[in-house]
Amino acid sequence: METGDPVPPPWASSLTEVLLGTSQIASRVSEIGASLSAHYEGLNPVLLIVLKGSFIFGADLSRSLSVSHEVQFIRAKSYVGTESTGEVHVTGLEGVDISGRHVVVVEDIVDTGLTLRQIRKKLTGMGAASVESCVFLKKETDRRGKGTPDETWVAFGIEDRFVVGYGLDFDQKFRHLPFVGVMKEA
Ligand code: IMP
Repeated sequence: METGDPVPPPWASSLTEVLLGTSQIASRVSEIGASLSAHYEGLNPVLLIVLKGSFIFGADLSRSLSVSHEVQFIRAKSYVGTESTGEVHVTGLEGVDISGRHVVVVEDIVDTGLTLRQIRKKLTGMGAASVESCVFLKKETDRRGKGTPDETWVAFGIEDRFVVGYGLDFDQKFRHLPFVGVMKEA
């Protein structure tokens, strides 16, 4: 399924277009993987993969790294349907020892930036040697909070539309699509 292809019949009633196809995603992920590999040579970073949305991006990113690294998973939940609840529940950090470690937070999408801000806040004080972020999608929006730090690596900037696939969901559906599609307006 490539960028601009017609939406496959099973999803045609829910999605308007294929925004990012599988080859475009794969080649960008390997570019980012090369950049992270150069940056973290010899540092054995921890990829902190934010579930559930980043499970596919995190798996592909990890496999694209040519440097030794570790993988950990945390949960963050802020959305119900297509709306942010304004609160982020982060769980799973209590089982992760990041003291003195180089951490890369792997996020599926940045919209308001609230999720990433809350995760960074939780990481502060846990003694990480460095904290960077690697996000699959970044929305162009004026909803981003003031003072939100820029993400270190961004795979794709997209327009402000609700997207699904490649890990991203709408009410827990569509995560498994191997492409990113745009949801039809309700
Ligand atoms: P933020 O906290 O507003 O930056 O939103 C980040 C979280 O919102 C992401 O990790 C997703 O779970 C969810 N999210 C934001 N926009 C979308 C979207 O277009 N599709 C699916 N999930 C989204």
